[in-house]
Amino acid sequence: MSTIAVGGINRTALFYQSVIGKKVIMAVTGFILSGFVLGHMIGNLQVFAGPEKFNAYAAFLQGLGPMLWVARIALLAAVGLHIAMAVQLTLLKLDARPQAYVKKSALVSTYAARTMIWSGPIVAAFLIYHLLHLTTGHAHPDFKPGDVYANFITGFKNPAVALFYMVANILLAFHLYHGVWSMFQSLGVSHPRYTPILKRLAQLYGIVIGLGNVAMPMAVLTGILTL
Ligand code: HEM
Repeated sequence: MSTIAVGGINRTALFYQSVIGKKVIMAVTGFILSGFVLGHMIGNLQVFAGPEKFNAYAAFLQGLGPMLWVARIALLAAVGLHIAMAVQLTLLKLDARPQAYVKKSALVSTYAARTMIWSGPIVAAFLIYHLLHLTTGHAHPDFKPGDVYANFITGFKNPAVALFYMVANILLAFHLYHGVWSMFQSLGVSHPRYTPILKRLAQLYGIVIGLGNVAMPMAVLTGILTL
């Protein structure tokens, strides 16, 4: 093996082991995942255009074949790395401060920042349930393969399910608010003059995703969307 190749591997390993390297991986995977969440929400909002349009959209996605699998594998890798970095960074933080503060200061921390540690795992648990519910149907008692619109309506007709979706997506909105803001910082996109604008952008992103995703189960619960 050449010296250059060994140097390259060493540099990659050093980057991965460093706190900043982990934060950058967290930011890049977070960017990919938040992009997916926006695209997924825009696609899903077509449910308001009726069953034909929504099922045609779902059929189009299924029709992507190998491309769909490439996207799925990329997303899975992003989720895996994002979670691994979150666990490692949390452990490193705990290592650096073995004794908890006697009195926690909330002065420089937002609600969203303080809740990352449990909004993340809850969103991850939601994702597993969501895939078993609307993709594979294992957690959906009235699942009809191929009829995504019917699965959507019958799924959210159950108030407990709709409520769980709404709570998880509100938590996701908070997670995105702090996550998008941290992403700018980890990638070095920060400047005192732009800080308030970047914070607003992150807030807006969370609000848009939260409202869009809560609107869908809510529309079924309130009878706006029916079979
Ligand atoms: C109210 C909010 C949401 C609704 C109504 C919704 C709806 C759906 C539907 C109907 C499907 C099945 C599509 C099909 O089989 O063709 C699906 C799949 C999926 N959803 Fe969601 N979703 C929501 C939120 C989310 C969130 C927040 C995430 C990620 C954190 C997410 C990740 C996924 C993934 C990864 C798939 C599988 C895509 C695939 O591989 O085929 N969803 N969603």
